[in-house]
Amino acid sequence: MSSYLDTEKRSVSRPIADAMGRPLHDLRISLLDQCNFRCPYCMPEAKFHADYEFLKRHQRLTYDEIIRVATSACSLGVSKIRLTGGEPLLDKNICDLIERIVKLSGVDDLALTTNGILLSSYAEKLAAAGLHRVTVSLDSIDKNIFRKMSGGKGDLEKVLAGIKAAENIGLGPIKINVVVQKAVNDHTILDLLEYFRGTGTIVRLIEFMDVGNRNGWQMNQVVPSHVLLESIQKRWALQPIDQNYTGEVARRYEYVDGSGEIGFISSVTEPFCGDCSRARLSADGMLYTCLFANQGTDLRESLRNGADDDELRDILSRIWLQRADRYSELRRPEVAEHHVLRKVEMYRMGG
Ligand code: GTP
Ligand code: 5AD
Ligand code: SF4
Ligand code: SF4
Repeated sequence: MSSYLDTEKRSVSRPIADAMGRPLHDLRISLLDQCNFRCPYCMPEAKFHADYEFLKRHQRLTYDEIIRVATSACSLGVSKIRLTGGEPLLDKNICDLIERIVKLSGVDDLALTTNGILLSSYAEKLAAAGLHRVTVSLDSIDKNIFRKMSGGKGDLEKVLAGIKAAENIGLGPIKINVVVQKAVNDHTILDLLEYFRGTGTIVRLIEFMDVGNRNGWQMNQVVPSHVLLESIQKRWALQPIDQNYTGEVARRYEYVDGSGEIGFISSVTEPFCGDCSRARLSADGMLYTCLFANQGTDLRESLRNGADDDELRDILSRIWLQRADRYSELRRPEVAEHHVLRKVEMYRMGG
């Protein structure tokens, strides 16, 4: 029987590092694999049609199970948790989970990534539940291009209203994730930056990545960040600024005229595996140690087979201690274009 002292001991944080000396700092939790968008680079409609089989409720982790994994991860050093999907706001009870996660010992940053379409109706409830901030995926400020990039599902006005609502209720600093694809939305980036300049919202331009196997990634669809940076600098002067924390994914710049910050996430041309401290928990309880993983560890099975807290912590700690992932540093575009490595899809793993 476990005593009060055992419980107290378990809550003591014992940070660990992986085989390359990288600590475990972030846990990204995917709540479900469904989404109300069909972005062609993530869930192309032709493959994710009306009778596509998403995870059933019993296959997904319960909140109690998520809390157990998160508690264990926090005891190993996690202080930053991000809720993702699919689209996490399709989980109608999400606020109950947020209330519980935010109270976990060690959590000092709790964020949510959403496509924003339901955000205006959720913003107040999310803030009341204790969520710290939101990141909204928005690929273009041109309503037709945005619609196309969301697979015909997005409504620009609704997403912009969601961003406003989140800002007004204090879920900032709001970040906007923009996946940049050559000849699809790259010509609309300056307009998007113009829209958010001076608002306090931080736009992050993401190089299109070869995640999963279904998005038909080709190197010639990637706009290297340095090319984008040059074209942005022709319009506005920018200067680099320091990282907020070691392992930050975005390279940060600020407008010299004081109109705020933008970021570049350049996994293809400037990989950042060296400081990568992120673990990913999928909705069905698989733990992945890299966004490009082709295998993970089934924590659901251990949880449902009665693993106690010490066992769970041992499993997590063993996984992390062995970790040597650095996919982006090893990526060879000419190989990646053939999609031979059976990688887990991003909507499954969580971005
Ligand atoms: P902040 O805490 O606000 O800095 O955000 P974050 O670092 O958690 O970034 P976010 O979750 O918004 O990630 C932005 C995008 O960067 C993701 O949607 C992915 O496209 C990409 N990204 C995030 N983490 C990784 C990673 O570990 N590897 C790679 N290759 N890309 C990543
Ligand atoms: N390349 C880069 N970013 C991607 N995202 C989804 N698929 C890709 C990809 N292939 C981003 C989304 C969202 C986050 C969860 O991941 O735009 O912001
Ligand atoms: Fe949905 Fe995000 Fe994937 Fe688009 S990128 S289909 S919004 S999970
Ligand atoms: Fe981390 Fe893998 Fe991304 Fe490298 S490719 S930064 S190891 S998630």
